[in-house]
Amino acid sequence: MTTVLPAFVQQLLVQSKNPAEVPQIDPSHAEGWLGILASKLLSIFDTGTYRAGGSFLAHGYAHLLIELPDEPTTYLRVPAQAGLAPWPVLATSVVLTIAGAMELEMYQEVANSLVLQPHYARAFGPEQVFAVHRDTFCGTRSSVDALNLLTIAPPTELGGSPLTGDEYASAAHRAREILDQCRGEAFVKNTAPWLMQVPCLDMPDLTYVQHVSLSILDRLSADRNLLTTLVDEVLTLPGRLAASRVTLLLNRLSLWEAPDHSFEIRLNMNPRPENQLVPHDHCYAFATHVLTGGYVHVVRRRTDGWEGPFTGADLQPAIVTVERPGSAYALDHSVVHQAVMAPHTVTLFIRGPRRKASSHAAEDLMPPEQSWPEAAVPGNQPAQSRSATVDEYLMMRRYLRERRIIN
Ligand SMILES: [Fe+2]
Repeated sequence: MTTVLPAFVQQLLVQSKNPAEVPQIDPSHAEGWLGILASKLLSIFDTGTYRAGGSFLAHGYAHLLIELPDEPTTYLRVPAQAGLAPWPVLATSVVLTIAGAMELEMYQEVANSLVLQPHYARAFGPEQVFAVHRDTFCGTRSSVDALNLLTIAPPTELGGSPLTGDEYASAAHRAREILDQCRGEAFVKNTAPWLMQVPCLDMPDLTYVQHVSLSILDRLSADRNLLTTLVDEVLTLPGRLAASRVTLLLNRLSLWEAPDHSFEIRLNMNPRPENQLVPHDHCYAFATHVLTGGYVHVVRRRTDGWEGPFTGADLQPAIVTVERPGSAYALDHSVVHQAVMAPHTVTLFIRGPRRKASSHAAEDLMPPEQSWPEAAVPGNQPAQSRSATVDEYLMMRRYLRERRIIN
């Protein structure tokens, strides 16, 4: 199965001649892929392993080979000429439009193409797709700011003339620029202005912080469209994916950071109940609102003062509650707690500004290193907390969609 290309590409590529066969693609599954694809392609470009080899000029485009392990032969296509260019289709091909405009014309016979008398004409904008099958007579023209991705099955020699190093560098630079723009803009639509209006939460008064935070979370929990936009933007806005973490306690997405940096909104999910027994505090005050699932929440009182490291022997239970969907509370940075969550618990969470250099956990009750998240880079050591990968983000988003927490 593909990991870089959207799943529907494969469905289009394998369509047979059987007239009773039409690819089963839900139109809603063919949207929202552009920013993700741009991010993944950029990460491949960043490896620096792609050169002019295998890239060529044909059919009005510079074709830049993208080597995708276990995926069909794929090229980024940068327009190299104005006007309509004939396209002899030698194998089933799928085109994903990334930027700019493209026009496609299909002809019954070659003679029609020579006099530009199409029998089908179609204009495409960004984030659209089409497949064209072998021996179809067609041609395309693209705007100068266009970029598209061509995938072919099975591997076929397309001909064309090899690109020089300079031609490759110029086209690759242009493609990278466009992909970078797509990554940043694909999902940036209309983050609700009310989030921009929230007052500063850098306040020592926990009652005030609770009041404002819980108002925010209450409003956000009722606004699935905004929640969806914020989740989608994690992949496209600077810093959001790096701030989204896989930790020994749970996974979380960083949905929003206030312009004055006085608070961050997170979405917590995928708890690891076996690790959540460890009593701990945080570097910041926070407020939380349970969306699904629930947990027993134990707030503990320290008997050794309110600062620095502690052990289980320094703690006494103080307040114990059963948190259910709709529950909400705020906790100061000095307070120790445990939240052993039911498996499908999802919570909204607001963290305030940092109040101390580091948080603490009862050292004698720390989960063993074997239970910590595996390193994102093979060979590295497990960490208590690390940034989520793109694939982990996609898993979290899928999880939220399946549970209808987002659209
Ligand atoms: Fe906690």
